[in-house]
Parts: sequence; structure tokens; C-alpha cells
Amino acid sequence: MRTLNHLFERNAEWASRVREETPDFFAELSAQQNPGYLWIGCADSRVPASEITDVRPGDMFVHRNVANMVVHTDLNMLSVLQYAVEVLRIEHVIVCGHYGCGGVAAALAGNRLGLIDNWLRHIRDVIDRHDDLLGGIKSDSDKADTLCALNVIEQVANVCQTTIVRDAWDRGQDVCVHAWIYRLEDGILQDLGFCVDQERDVDAAYRAAVARITNGTIRNAR
Ligand code: CO
Repeated sequence: MRTLNHLFERNAEWASRVREETPDFFAELSAQQNPGYLWIGCADSRVPASEITDVRPGDMFVHRNVANMVVHTDLNMLSVLQYAVEVLRIEHVIVCGHYGCGGVAAALAGNRLGLIDNWLRHIRDVIDRHDDLLGGIKSDSDKADTLCALNVIEQVANVCQTTIVRDAWDRGQDVCVHAWIYRLEDGILQDLGFCVDQERDVDAAYRAAVARITNGTIRNAR
């Protein structure tokens, strides 16, 4: 089993099934990619971007890392974002978190796990920023869920603050940034309502999104 033959067999079956349904699919797709969405999501194996949104290959440009973070010095994320916005001219940037995120839980617990602690430190910053709100939540699971949602809001704010998105907006290019969260329990996506397409709306939209989480509107919708 060193060659993982079962995955190659499944690939061959999948490719022939797609060809049967749409004979020109691969010919058209290999000529160019023209995705409508950039997805920045968690690396968690249970949150596969194109599968949960039921889109086909070619529809979605994807970047995933532990806890769907947008770190200002992350050259990998920035390169994906720059290529998506400036070359592919993608109009919709989606940051999607998920309830039950192990990265978020680890940051909240403060356990020492090794190198990854340095990455999770960025979530600790989110905890510190929203200390008052999180400190007032008794239940551990409610606290973790709230932090999952807050983390998405903070990462969307980070996307909006990149030179890439700000330059695009300055040029008058259409770029809309979205904050979504996914429930592992039932496979349902929820829009956290932080949706911005111009710089002057960012602060008010950020405050409104945090307020919705603070007053429980988001949690109650679960
Ligand atoms: Co996760």
C-alpha cells in the first residue's frame, strides 16, 4: 500500500465520471482558470472548501492554514491574495472559520504544543482584544464558539488592511470580503454579516459584526 493505489483508482473513476457528464470539462479547464471566489479557510480535513459549497474544479481559488488566519507577514497568504485579486481579478474573498476549530481551542486552552504555538499566538491576540466579552461567558463551549466567530471577524479585518485589498479599492476594482463560519455538526454555512467592498465601510461593519456576536445574535442563530 506504499503507493496508495486506492486513491489513484478513485481518481481515475472520478475523471471518467466527469468526462461522461461534461465531455469538454477538462479541455476547457486546462486552457485557463477563471475562479469567482478566493477561499481562506482552516486546514481542518472536515472543511473542504469546494465540497461544502458544492462548486466544481475551476470555481474556487483556495488557501488554507491552521485556524484560517490572515497574518500580515505571511508571504504565502499574501501571494495567494495578490495573485487572486490582481491577476485572476477575483471579486469575492471569503474567510471561512468553523465551530469546533482545534486551533482556536488550543489557543484558548493555552496548552504548549510546540512550534505551532507561535502561529496560535495570533489567536491569543484575538482573545486579548476581546477579553471582556470572552471573560463574561461561563460555558467553555460557548466561549470557544464565540472565539471561532470573533477570529473570522478579525481575519476579515486583516484582509481589508492588506495593501493588496486597499490598493484594489483605491483603483476602483470590485473586491468584496466576506466572513463565514461553518458548523461541523450539520454541514451548514453561516454568514457572519461582516461584508465589505470599500475601505470607508470597514470600521462600522467590523463594529457591527462584533456587536452581533457580543449580544448573542450569532450564537442564538446556531
Ligand atoms: Co479549524
